Amino acid sequence: MYDLLFSPYKLGNVEVKNRLVVTAMVTNYCNYDGTLTEKYMRYHEEKAKGGWGLIITEDYSMREHGKGYDRIPGFYKDEHIALNKEFTERIHKYGAKVVCQIYHPGRQSNQYVNGGVQNIAPSPIPCPWLKQIPHELTVDEIHEIVEQFGDAARRAKESGFDGVEIHLAHGYLLFEFLSPYTNKRTDEYGGCFKNRFRIVKEVFENVKSKVGDDYLVGCRLSSRDGYFGGRDVFDSMELAMNLEAIGAMYINVSSGMYGNHQNNDIDVYAHGFNVPNTEKIKSVVSIPVFTTNRMTTAGVAEAVLKSGRADLIGMGRTSLADPWFPNKVKEGREEEVRHCINCNIGCYGELLAGRQTSCLANPTVGRESELDAMHSDVSKKIYIAGGGPGGMYAAIYAKKKGYTPVLFEAKDRLGGQLLSAAYPPGKGEVSLFTQWLIAELKRQDIEVRLNTKLKKEIVEADKPDAVIVAAGGTPTIPPIKSIDLPHVCVAEDALMGKVVTGDDVVVCGGGEVGVETAVAMAHRENGKVTIVEMLPSIYADMNFNKQIKEYDIAVHASTKVKEITEDAVIVEKDGKEFSIPAKTVILAFGYRPNNKLAEELEGLCEVRTIGGSIKTSNAFEAGRDAFNTLLEL
Ligand SMILES: Cc1cc2nc3c(=O)[nH]c(=O)nc-3n(C[C@H](O)[C@H](O)[C@H](O)COP(=O)(O)O)c2cc1C
Repeated sequence: MYDLLFSPYKLGNVEVKNRLVVTAMVTNYCNYDGTLTEKYMRYHEEKAKGGWGLIITEDYSMREHGKGYDRIPGFYKDEHIALNKEFTERIHKYGAKVVCQIYHPGRQSNQYVNGGVQNIAPSPIPCPWLKQIPHELTVDEIHEIVEQFGDAARRAKESGFDGVEIHLAHGYLLFEFLSPYTNKRTDEYGGCFKNRFRIVKEVFENVKSKVGDDYLVGCRLSSRDGYFGGRDVFDSMELAMNLEAIGAMYINVSSGMYGNHQNNDIDVYAHGFNVPNTEKIKSVVSIPVFTTNRMTTAGVAEAVLKSGRADLIGMGRTSLADPWFPNKVKEGREEEVRHCINCNIGCYGELLAGRQTSCLANPTVGRESELDAMHSDVSKKIYIAGGGPGGMYAAIYAKKKGYTPVLFEAKDRLGGQLLSAAYPPGKGEVSLFTQWLIAELKRQDIEVRLNTKLKKEIVEADKPDAVIVAAGGTPTIPPIKSIDLPHVCVAEDALMGKVVTGDDVVVCGGGEVGVETAVAMAHRENGKVTIVEMLPSIYADMNFNKQIKEYDIAVHASTKVKEITEDAVIVEKDGKEFSIPAKTVILAFGYRPNNKLAEELEGLCEVRTIGGSIKTSNAFEAGRDAFNTLLEL
């Protein structure tokens, strides 16, 4: 079935054992001085063990003050080489090849991660996202940058990397030179294509002069900028031909740029959405071409290869969710793959909050050594209350540690709030994760008691060594007049088809659940949909906010719900009351932690509370809490 996917492929002189490539992903796991850490090496090692043919590292900074995040690796001094040598040896031990991505973030950085040094760019246009005006590079400074790219590549080669990938994508410095959207120069580095391409050509020449013509030098490019006034795919085809002409040995096709409020092409939902553009680029070059973006299953990957649209398949977040994806598929254990659900909470979300890359589906990303060491010689009976993601992960980690977990779920199904979370449009893959957790409980032979609420009496009778309360949260129902009318329901029930929703829907609460529920109701053609939110703004998500506009969903922010009547919701804004027609009223006021059991058990046995039972949280926090709790218990 997956013959092509597991067939070897030659990139320059480097033979890759299969077509599965881990694309570059910032982890922020290194030291502030760009040196590698054990955490960084062990994280990549797990992927090498998991069977990936080629691992591309996150973007290494080629200059001390050229970082996009504070703890990315660096290749701006020879002192960086020693640990990278150890790193490449560890990866090679498992038969994987490893390529180092080299970049400068340009204007798309925060000067505060670079010791206050001003960002740089071809032209002084601030990134719409970070809003800091960059310094317009002089020609001498451009020459210095070209040299530094070459020096970084030399260090990568001396460290044993199989190749380097020059980062031309996602809105960073070299992308900014290529795009007329960000390059307004009138000297030899701006204007016509030849001039905008000049720095890239010089970088390739400099790199090659320092690593030799046989050494693998590839590049990553965005098939389109995705911005009004930027490059589109035909410009990228021209770019690809020119890259081949200057000696690029592969093109790793991505899409979009980060600093883009209109269309961040990097994380949309559709599987393989960048394949058509990859195919166009591939049609004009004879060097290998990779495709990426939501390539999440072996079936789609094989189909793309078989149809000749790409030569290798890049997977980013899939490799976070399951570093063992290749081996599981190869060994016929595809159903064991833990899928990325495209939530972006643990990966981008954590990074953008200044922390380190993680994953909702895989809470032990970057914590592989801790997972390895999770073992106890003491046997313990652990009772877990609540079969949501936190409870299920607590049971899985308890088993891993060598304990005997028993999972109690009051309802007749496992999943908790993950069940309804799969219902909003575009969120269907959440079910894959829920399914994986349930299947893993079975594979690990963990006892599950459905329709059984864990109560004090059970604990008193059975005397477990510890209880983990993972009961999640209960929807908040504020004391609003007539909130108990029959046409009023909670978001979960509306999403999961437990109530009939009709024309004129009012969703009370514009947080994540409220926004997603409103969009789901609009998709179901429930007539006019309105969101009422007490705060000045609703939950921000590029895709859902776009749909709010597309479906003409009315949003009343800074507005308080006062009363519900049989056919309306009475609200108040700026001291003025008005009424919004409503045949269905959906409550999405948030959740109250369900921690009563923990209070009841105080003094009886060791009790730990995790996830939504502590405070309003999400499946990412619940899974992480579960892991941390089991490390300690
Ligand atoms: C946390 C995170 C960090 C990323 N950092 C980089 C990077 O350093 N360089 C790069 O070229 N792409 C980076 N990307 C983009 C990925 O390589 C990939 O193109 C993107 O996630 C889409 O592919 P996917 O759907 O398989 O995840 C990053 C993605 C994520 C999620």
